[in-house]
Amino acid sequence: PSILDLAVIEGDGIGKEVVPQGLRALEAALEPAGVAVRTTDYDLGAGRWHRTGETLTDEDMAALAKHDAILLGAVGDPGVPSGVLERGLLLKLRFGFDHFVNLRPTRLVPGVSTPLAEPGEVDFLVVREGTEGPYVGNGGSMRTGTPLEVATEVSLNTAVGVERVVRYAFEQAEARRGKLTLVHKHNVLVHAGHLWRRIVEEVGAEHPGVEVDYAHVDAMMIYLVQDPSRFDVIVTDNLFGDIVTDLAGAIGGGIGLAASGNVNPTGAFPSMFEPVHGSAPDIAGQDKADPTATVLSVALLLDHLGHVEPAAAVRAAAENDLAARAADASLASRGTARIGDDLVAAITGR
Ligand code: NAD
Ligand code: IPM
Ligand code: MN
Repeated sequence: PSILDLAVIEGDGIGKEVVPQGLRALEAALEPAGVAVRTTDYDLGAGRWHRTGETLTDEDMAALAKHDAILLGAVGDPGVPSGVLERGLLLKLRFGFDHFVNLRPTRLVPGVSTPLAEPGEVDFLVVREGTEGPYVGNGGSMRTGTPLEVATEVSLNTAVGVERVVRYAFEQAEARRGKLTLVHKHNVLVHAGHLWRRIVEEVGAEHPGVEVDYAHVDAMMIYLVQDPSRFDVIVTDNLFGDIVTDLAGAIGGGIGLAASGNVNPTGAFPSMFEPVHGSAPDIAGQDKADPTATVLSVALLLDHLGHVEPAAAVRAAAENDLAARAADASLASRGTARIGDDLVAAITGR
């Protein structure tokens, strides 16, 4: 039998609860295809940092690079200064493995409760740039702690970096409903904004079948809430994409359902799949976290590695489970592990 060689980073908080459910779904889905999952656990996150002061060493990176893919729960902990794990672990992985495509789909399953009164048919894909923007850490501060303090956080946008993610987004639009929306703020951020606009125009000329549209990120907050069904593929920079996808998560039935993939489409490095949400310290350790976002991230992982049927089985199980919740309120009281049990049962058909 063939083997899927997976690196597992549970991370912090609810990451430790949702990842095991994701792994069970992965194994259940691959079993009929005769694929075994070999997992290697990486002890990364708050615990490791407290013990050793390390976030992610070069040795960790070299070892992680050898796997077919990475499954990550979440990182971040109230006991660790903000940014240490987020930058030193999560972003180091995304940058180091050149995850320039951050895929974040939203699909509202009919009946699932959403804050929108009349959502219509919601099925869009955010293609968030993953290796540039204000996330690069190109900034600094002076006169720290004084009234004259200065702090900068410079957004980096390269033509090569923008073009590669825009190309990917156009290909996704071709394969979907043929619509692409660029989200930026080129009325104010004229340097980066016009670079994005020009590249979308240029690449768009090679895709005459794709209808191209633009929204400023502020107005996008209105459109997403008032009329999300008009969107198909949304392409945007790293920070706008972060913000847009939390709203997208809420619209799509809650952040506990929102999946993501940090993808290196060239295959030069392993891609990494993780729920959009964080470590949720407010509910950690209470069996309250919804593992669905992680399970749907596993479906993205399976698709990425070409296991199309197992991916469809996982997605169907998750979507049926969401539809069942909409029909039966008693299912809302299930905990993390119990939802995992039900998803595995649905995948295996046992
Ligand atoms: P969060 O996503 O952890 O939590 C936001 C809210 O959503 C909380 O009320 C939480 O209880 C709820 N929530 C999140 N996931 C849920 C789930 N699966 N089921 C049910 N409810 C869920 O965001 P935050 O509170 O801003 O951040 C907490 C920590 O996580 C911070 O340290 C932050 O830096 C980190 N973080 C990490 C990632 C990541 O690893 N990818 C993403 C976002 C935030
Ligand atoms: C996410 C998170 C991360 C981001 C943080 C924790 C670095 O919010 O995955 O959406 O901003 O990308
Ligand atoms: Mn985020």
